[in-house]
Amino acid sequence: MKKRCLVLTGGGDCPGLNAVLRAIVKRASLEEDWEIIGSIDAFNGILKEPTELVLLDNERIAGIHVKGGTILGTTNKGGPFNWPVKNADGSWTTRDRSDELIEILEREGINAIINIGGDGSQAISQTLFEKGVNIVGVPKTIDNDLMSTDYTFGFQTAVEIATDALDKLVTTAASHHRIMILEVMGREAGWIALYTAISGGAEVCLIPEIPYNLNEIIAKIEERTASGKGFVNIVIAEGAYPVGGEMSTFRINVAGKGKEYLQGAGNKLAADLKAAGVKTDIRATILGHIQRGGSPCVFDRMLATQFGVKAFELVLDNKFGQMVAFIDNDITDVTIKEAIINFNLVDPDSYLVHTAKSIGIIFGD
Ligand code: F6P
Repeated sequence: MKKRCLVLTGGGDCPGLNAVLRAIVKRASLEEDWEIIGSIDAFNGILKEPTELVLLDNERIAGIHVKGGTILGTTNKGGPFNWPVKNADGSWTTRDRSDELIEILEREGINAIINIGGDGSQAISQTLFEKGVNIVGVPKTIDNDLMSTDYTFGFQTAVEIATDALDKLVTTAASHHRIMILEVMGREAGWIALYTAISGGAEVCLIPEIPYNLNEIIAKIEERTASGKGFVNIVIAEGAYPVGGEMSTFRINVAGKGKEYLQGAGNKLAADLKAAGVKTDIRATILGHIQRGGSPCVFDRMLATQFGVKAFELVLDNKFGQMVAFIDNDITDVTIKEAIINFNLVDPDSYLVHTAKSIGIIFGD
């Protein structure tokens, strides 16, 4: 019987997931004694009774590298340590099913797992590794906020999409002499906002790492008006907030558990500018999940493909507890443990922020 490697995609989707799956399967098919099994919707597929597992062979993955999303499906709820269970009275609780997972892996003849996911998914990988599971991590997130890798796939595609949106807003802002606010994703980290603001030529960039002062933005608007250029383009990360203020969130219930989601930073800024007496017309656009969809750009296809090959080679080499990484233009691996200690945030003193400031972009600090 062949050795079996389980692969799963967890957390929010992002362009490039299918390219990773394709590369894993293609690399594994060079080994006669391995087969790749996909678990539907992250750990749900392997934990369900009956299981929802699918054999991933060359036929199944043909041509999928250009497709957005993930052919395996994904979820950012639950997982083996927090499996949601509904009580008889309708309330919800969570159960640790990790021991059961280990039994199921044995029953299904699974020798190793490749877990493709962001910080939450890799935290699960690390805890499973500490329980003796042969697991390897592949980092993914459009936010680019994972430590120990210079880039995650999905980020460049998101930046392309956001920059394309900003390019479009710039022409309508100029025509109407308006303030245009573009809210992009980025919970903890302002990478998407920063790259978009620089490459799209915004006047203002607001990111979670640098709480903003409204008066600085108003001063920029007045400066633009005085110079005859009445329009202003503002890129704001969803996690940005004013000095002394809070992130803009809304709360929804997920399996009985309240979960905070970020949204509204752009509209809040528009309302605050109006309340402060800004007379110029203001329009806010929330780009939202458009940034997570569609075909991955070339950079992300390349990175995802290399990550997939490397991840399976880590399995072959029994290098478990490791995560593939892209460091100094090289594909390598790091411990999952070090990758989840902290978020990869924009350094306000970095050359990138200096570059943005040098071309006239203000951050509200
Ligand atoms: O972490 C990636 C991300 O896209 C964040 O930028 C965003 O806040 C969050 O996921 C949205 O999650 P959901 O898909 O559950 O709405």
